[in-house]
Amino acid sequence: MTQYSKRMVIVHWLTLALLIAAWFLGEELAEATDESKATLAGYIVHIAAGATILLLTVTRLLFRSKDGTPPPIGQTAMDKVAKGIHHFLYTVLFVLPVSGMITVVTSDAGALLAGDATLLPKEEGYEHVFAHEVHEVLVNVLIVLVVIHVLGAIKHQFIAKDGLMERMMLRRKD
Ligand code: HEM
Ligand code: HEM
Repeated sequence: MTQYSKRMVIVHWLTLALLIAAWFLGEELAEATDESKATLAGYIVHIAAGATILLLTVTRLLFRSKDGTPPPIGQTAMDKVAKGIHHFLYTVLFVLPVSGMITVVTSDAGALLAGDATLLPKEEGYEHVFAHEVHEVLVNVLIVLVVIHVLGAIKHQFIAKDGLMERMMLRRKD
């Protein structure tokens, strides 16, 4: 095995696309809340993107345990750091959406369940909601991890030129 399975590859890139969407939608939602005009639709699209990421992450870990992973490309300290980053990424991909869910149930956003937009949090409505703080911090942690991860991929592609990217591509080598 020299590449990730096709389904692992599909979920990897789908997760990237959904993360961009969830991040953008989350920022829009936060802006709307600051102006006290968040809508049910704004919440629903953000939650749908975020919850799909959670579902995909669980599915991906299942695929991973069934399909396995290609052996590490090397055994240097940097390769070990990269592996640690992968595990950290999986952890955040799981905990971040869960913190979003906890934010909803521990704040006025619980009004979503009643379908009443007028009860949704207004400006500073998340001021003392701990899960919201965690959600915000984890978004930043995720961004830092993804930047390091992508820089690593760029280094492999353009400096080491060792074909690492092909491991995460649909086109099969053999
Ligand atoms: C990996 C998936 C997710 C990402 C990347 C993400 C990202 C974000 C971002 C960037 C914000 C704005 C933070 C701020 O500046 O205040 C946000 C806010 C929020 N997210 Fe998520 N989120 C995800 C999943 C979820 C899920 C699954 C839920 C709920 C079920 C959720 C509920 C919320 C809530 C309630 C807010 C507060 C909105 C506000 O401040 O007005 N998120 N999210
Ligand atoms: C342009 C963006 C990205 C590029 C170029 C990229 C590239 C890659 C490559 C080449 C691998 C295989 C590494 C290896 O074989 O050792 C990989 C694995 C991985 N990527 Fe990405 N990636 C990107 C975005 C993301 C994002 C946004 C996430 C999640 C937030 C992510 C999470 C992971 C994880 C968890 C693995 C490890 C897979 C495993 O062993 O189960 N990647 N990525």
